[in-house]
Amino acid sequence: MKAIIGGTGVDHISGFQGERRQIDTPYGSAEVFVGTGKDAWLAFLPRHGSGHSVPPHLINYRANISALKGLGVDEVITIYAVGSVSEALRPEEVGTIADFADLSGGGRAHTFFTGDEQGVVHVGMDRAFDPELTDALHAHEPNLKDAGVYVCTNGPRLETPSEIRMFRTLGFDVVGMTAATEVALAREAGLKIASLAYSINWAAGVGPDEVTFITDDTIARLKDSMTRLCMDVLEERLVALP
Ligand code: HPA
Repeated sequence: MKAIIGGTGVDHISGFQGERRQIDTPYGSAEVFVGTGKDAWLAFLPRHGSGHSVPPHLINYRANISALKGLGVDEVITIYAVGSVSEALRPEEVGTIADFADLSGGGRAHTFFTGDEQGVVHVGMDRAFDPELTDALHAHEPNLKDAGVYVCTNGPRLETPSEIRMFRTLGFDVVGMTAATEVALAREAGLKIASLAYSINWAAGVGPDEVTFITDDTIARLKDSMTRLCMDVLEERLVALP
């Protein structure tokens, strides 16, 4: 099975046929829309909940990833709304994430490996994003950008201009509040993952004005094209059963 995780602006997929399930895991329960009929190969998980009520620092990332693993998901494409720190990805543009830096502060339940019977495990993150799955996205959508390095803050507040200046100096390109935790857990769970970032604003102090967001209409348009792209790429990768 394949999965899409959506966030801000992407809490449902137009035309996707699925049933809402509350899936219990050892880490708590997760809300997942499991495909039915023609879409029975796909699961969709809105990370902030279908009513967009869970802020980034309170998302139960472990339950979400564990629920997808339990459904037999092997590949996932995740979508993140971000702020633009560099010119790599400008507002209204969509790109794949190349790498991440986790500055969320360590206060989240961010690992499945908590010692005891789990043992002491250090999962490599030198290729957190699957190159083949990422290439498949670019092959399907030649206009897709390389969004560069995603820096993950804890939120829910936005950053100060000084924080964003520091991020630019460190070579980070886009800023958000969720990807590092989610991607690291997906890798710990052995899922292949590729990620799309779409920019909804210049980060604090980068643009000429105070932080302003792109319009809801533009977000809705980008959502439809991104979810279509994810579904096309993932469907093509289904192994036909004998
Ligand atoms: N900062 C952090 N997260 C975000 C932003 C931002 O400017 N825009 C969208 N998600």
